[in-house]
Amino acid sequence: MLNMNKKFRIAIAGCGGMGSGHAVALQSGTGVTEGNAADAKMPDSALTADLGEISQLAGITDINPARAEWAASQGIFVYSSYEDILADDTVDAVLIATPNHLHKPMAVSALRAGKHVLCEKPVMLSSAGLLEVLEEAKKAGRVFYPRQNREWDEDFLIIRKIYEEQLLGRTFEIRCRIMGARGIPGDWRSRKEFGGGMMYDWGVHIIDRIVKLTGTVPESIFCSLKYITNHECDDNLFVHMTFHGGLTVRLEVDTCHFVSLPLWNLFAENGSAEILNWNCEGRMMRLSGWQDKDALPVMAGSGLTKTMAPRTRETVTELPLPRFDFDRNELYRNFIETCRGKAEQIVTGEHAVRVLKIIEACFESARTGETVKFRES
Ligand SMILES: NC(=O)c1ccc[n+]([C@@H]2O[C@H](COP(=O)([O-])OP(=O)(O)OC[C@H]3O[C@@H](n4cnc5c(N)ncnc54)[C@H](O)[C@@H]3O)[C@@H](O)[C@H]2O)c1
Repeated sequence: MLNMNKKFRIAIAGCGGMGSGHAVALQSGTGVTEGNAADAKMPDSALTADLGEISQLAGITDINPARAEWAASQGIFVYSSYEDILADDTVDAVLIATPNHLHKPMAVSALRAGKHVLCEKPVMLSSAGLLEVLEEAKKAGRVFYPRQNREWDEDFLIIRKIYEEQLLGRTFEIRCRIMGARGIPGDWRSRKEFGGGMMYDWGVHIIDRIVKLTGTVPESIFCSLKYITNHECDDNLFVHMTFHGGLTVRLEVDTCHFVSLPLWNLFAENGSAEILNWNCEGRMMRLSGWQDKDALPVMAGSGLTKTMAPRTRETVTELPLPRFDFDRNELYRNFIETCRGKAEQIVTGEHAVRVLKIIEACFESARTGETVKFRES
């Protein structure tokens, strides 16, 4: 019999970059993933759930003794093995934050041990693998929850508001870019057998966001992958998607770019928006009307142009981006409430299957050099 007053106990497998972030977030109850658990402060948000009221960090396990030592230094309980977590009856759920190739075996054994699973992205390396895991979850009567968390980023929420509420009219193109300059990290992310590469690292996030934003899947996909800093795993990618009705989306993940372009551009019939960075600096430019089409020619390099002459000040208005408060811990909270049968799962397994199928279509396009017609079945 489930005791609803008891705090929901989560144990973490893998206490590296992301796992230690989860450990700080859950140990402090703040959801804040940076720094030490004792110093973490609740986000400055009236809406963000206090995780400490509903959950408890049971402990972590990591095969690297240095990571286990770090956890112990934070007052976090350290399990000697993953099997010890699965054998602990006081643990309700496992959060899997190990390298990508381990997600499937770890998820299957956790579900078979009767644990709910919150699994880092990419949840699996193939849609077929994920369907098998979802079947295991069904058999076990447990929740498998993909930690595809980037629909709770403010930059995405801003774009979603502009798109859904048509603040600039009907959107005809969206561009999203994740830009870095460190190449592919030298760890497991540069090895294919461990599920490395930027498509599985960041591609999954931005494809996830676009499927959430549009509420659908693309009709066609073109993808090109680059291998600048290694020969095994993609370190730069470009995806072009076309949706029913004509919306086009361009996605880029770059790891060799020393000059950054905006994080987002949205182009709509009556204006354009840009978000420059993760701090959500940017603007919207709204057109007052299409009547004023003609302009005097201006110099462009060695020639003149009328078509590309800038708009006059009177015909466009610069506006700030919409900003708002939201529950920054909604994914953790929704996971716990779903496991307790009190909520509908926001990030579903079926959604993650769609994302993985799109990734598979991207790989096919990159391999053949052709645009791929996308069909879900
Ligand atoms: N959702 C996000 O925003 C986000 C951000 C970063 C990483 N991630 C995901 O989190 C996962 C981990 O990434 P990371 O950056 O933390 O990698 P990392 O290399 O920093 O950490 C992985 C940890 O797992 C440990 N580990 C390896 N095998 C293990 C095993 N069998 N049992 C227990 N521990 C084991 C390693 O020792 C290491 O400490 C990946 O799937 C990654 O895609 C998600």
